[in-house]
Amino acid sequence: MFDGIARRYDVLNRVLSFGQDVSWRRRALGRLVPGGSVLDVGAGTGDLALAASAAGARPVVALDLAGGMLERARRRPGGERLEYVIASAEALPFADAIFDAVVAGFAVRNFGDLARGASEMRRVLRPGGRAVIVELSLPANRLVRGVHLVYLHLGAPLIARAFGSTPEAYRYLPASIERFPEPEQFARVLRDAGFARVRFERLTFGVATIHVGEA
Ligand SMILES: C[S@@+](CC[C@H](N)C(=O)[O-])C[C@H]1O[C@@H](n2cnc3c(N)ncnc32)[C@H](O)[C@@H]1O
Repeated sequence: MFDGIARRYDVLNRVLSFGQDVSWRRRALGRLVPGGSVLDVGAGTGDLALAASAAGARPVVALDLAGGMLERARRRPGGERLEYVIASAEALPFADAIFDAVVAGFAVRNFGDLARGASEMRRVLRPGGRAVIVELSLPANRLVRGVHLVYLHLGAPLIARAFGSTPEAYRYLPASIERFPEPEQFARVLRDAGFARVRFERLTFGVATIHVGEA
């Protein structure tokens, strides 16, 4: 599905989030200790990986199941500095404890096996390393959640269609957000995967959440 929307993915991201996705990613990257090696899991078109690389992280590995998404990242400015791996987050093709940081932007919601993906992220982190995960979520306030769900189910598919995307891809969006664990539950998944000092921060009324855990 992501290969199918790769060409329009960046524009749709900006439009559907009213530009907020840029500041959510910036805030997530602000949680990283500067320098060192970074693995971006579900890197897609490379927004987080490219920003980490521009901030001085080396090496930066962009990993994704969708080669078409990574191909977009490769063609962007700075894309030549990244390393690319087509693989599944649930079976990372790396030795234990080799990355200083792992990041994931709007990717973990799509994993087939969330617990497995979380423990793989934990496994490849060096002791003291940090995982920073930013993901779409539902606001805690019932009224705001209701309004947001109307937007996700009705507004977002309409906008996506206007930008030439397949309606299925943006019907998938609300479904995947609704079935993703609440932030408290996802924090438990991270703890069960072996992360320490797990914490989260809700952004923009809770429509996105940053999770941090340490190895
Ligand atoms: C919504 S995009 C996010 C892309 C990018 N991280 C960003 O911040 O815009 C989700 C990406 O995760 C990838 N993905 C989903 N499940 C995956 C998995 N199990 N293993 C690796 N990549 C996965 C998809 O192919 C897609 O490129």
